[in-house]
This record gives sequence, structure tokens and C-alpha cells, in this order.
Amino acid sequence: MSDLFDFSQRHDDYAVMGNPVAHSKSPRIHTLFAEQTGEAMHYEAIQVDPGGFPQAVGNFDASGGKGLNITVPFKQEAWALVNERSERAERAGAVNTIKFIGKQLFGDNTDGIGLVNDLHSNRVPIKDKKVLLMGAGGAARGVLAPLLAEHPAQLVIANRTAEKARELAEVFSDLGSIEGSGYEALEDKRFDLVINATAASLQGELPPLPDNLLADGAACYDMMYGAGPTTFMQWASAHGAATVLDGLGMLVEQAAESFYIWRGVRPETGSVIEQLRREMAASS
Ligand code: ATR
Repeated sequence: MSDLFDFSQRHDDYAVMGNPVAHSKSPRIHTLFAEQTGEAMHYEAIQVDPGGFPQAVGNFDASGGKGLNITVPFKQEAWALVNERSERAERAGAVNTIKFIGKQLFGDNTDGIGLVNDLHSNRVPIKDKKVLLMGAGGAARGVLAPLLAEHPAQLVIANRTAEKARELAEVFSDLGSIEGSGYEALEDKRFDLVINATAASLQGELPPLPDNLLADGAACYDMMYGAGPTTFMQWASAHGAATVLDGLGMLVEQAAESFYIWRGVRPETGSVIEQLRREMAASS
């Protein structure tokens, strides 16, 4: 058969849009998922200029693209652009996954379930536990509903700008026991799970945390990741955390959930997380 009539090489197109996006690990993760599951798909990173997001999505759709991941700074814009949203995306006010269904754009947010799934696979309990979430920006907002769905005994949001934490707690107050405060209000409190959703680690900084914040056996989770432990992970180890995790697992888990939305197939994540760790160690 001539190549002209050989359709065996056909694939569906996917991409991540963001700015900057060149260092995104999403193309690598989805390529590993596609190899593992035998799905015929191609996934690339597309850098989009500020103001150019709706046009870029329209172009990708017109070219026959099947789905997108959306990253910083376009998640809120994506939320506004789609025709239909999942309940969790609606709550998050942000969309990180778009599926093109005919002329419709369906928007979802897989960040929160990515975090919860990574906590589960690392055997970190959430149910009936006291949980502290640091930060009240987009990253925090995206994970609140899935965290509350796990029924923690209490969820406290702490933020440098306390008012933002209080406002956010108010928005999610119908979903469980949740309160917002500044860091000074943590002085006499103990937590079983502390999650860092601030951008502080990016600058090598740390929110002002009291020394005795962690309960016995506590777990600490930084939604950031790097080749080595982040500033918050170093703090956690120095203050007796029993489990210290970075956000690489969350990244792979949110990608797996996006992959499932697009392809109806759930990839195995553990081997992909290990593979990425090896690749990060080799290039550092
Ligand atoms: P993202 O979408 O990544 O959450 P964002 O919306 O800009 O980004 O929010 C950044 C979060 O990190 C905020 O909660 C911010 O606190 P403020 O609301 O008080 O600005 C928090 N943050 C950033 N740098 C920080 C630092 N050095 N110490 C403590 N919190 C910090």
C-alpha cells in the first residue's frame, strides 16, 4: 500500500498553552502516557502572547486539535472562554483542561484531583485530619473543593494578605469546615497536613511559620518542585515532618486526569513519576 493511503500513522493533536511554556513537562508526560497506552496522539507546547489566547485556541480548534492544557497565566481566561464547565472547574474559577466536542469547548480543572490522588498514592490521609493550606491565589483556589471533598476535620487557609484567605474560605464555606487567616493566627495550632500553594518557594522564600506547627506524624506537601528539596520541604524536614513531598506527583496526576478526559483511558502514573525524577536528576 502506498503511504498516501496508509492511515495507520494518523494521530490526534493536543497541546499545552501558556507563557512561558518552553520548560513545561506536559509534552514529555503526555508522550510517555501515549506510549504506555498505545494512544495515537501528538502533544506539543504552544507559547501564547498576552491578549492572544482566544485566537490561539480558535486556531488550534480550526486545525483539528482535540484538546488543550492551559497553564499560567491563562487559566482564568480559559474559564471565561469555554461553553461548558465541570462542577470542579466552576468552583475553581480556573480551567486547566479543554476538550473540543464538536463546536463546544468543555472546560475542566484537574489540579485539585491531581493533588488528592498524589496524596492518596503516597498514603497521606486527609479524612478527619487537620489541614493547613498556605496561599490564597489561583493555585490554592484550584485545590480547595477536591480537598474538602475528602472530609478533613478542619481546613485552614493562611495567607500573607489575611483578607484574601478569609474571602476564599467564605466562597467555599458550604463545602466543609473551612476558615481563613494570616500566619500569626497559626501560633497555637497543630496540623497533620500542611500544603504550600504559595509562590514563595520560587524565590527561595518561606511564609512565616511557627516552629511547633506540625502534629506528630505530620505530612508536608509543596505544590512546587525542583531538582532538589524546596525551601518549604527543607523547613518541613527540619521541623520533624514524617512525610515530605514535592509537587511533581501532582503534576503527573493532573495530567493523567486530563488524559482520561480526552481519551477515556487512565494511564499508570507511578512509572512516569519515576521516569521524570530520573530525567531531572540526570539534567541537574
Ligand atoms: P498562583 O496562581 O500561583 O497561586 P498568585 O495568584 O499570584 O499565584 O498567588 C500567589 C500566592 O503566593 C499568594 O497567596 C501570595 O500571597 P499574597 O496574596 O499575600 O500576595 C503568596 N506568596 C507569594 N510570595 C510569597 C512569600 N514570599 N511569602 C508568603 N506568601 C507568598
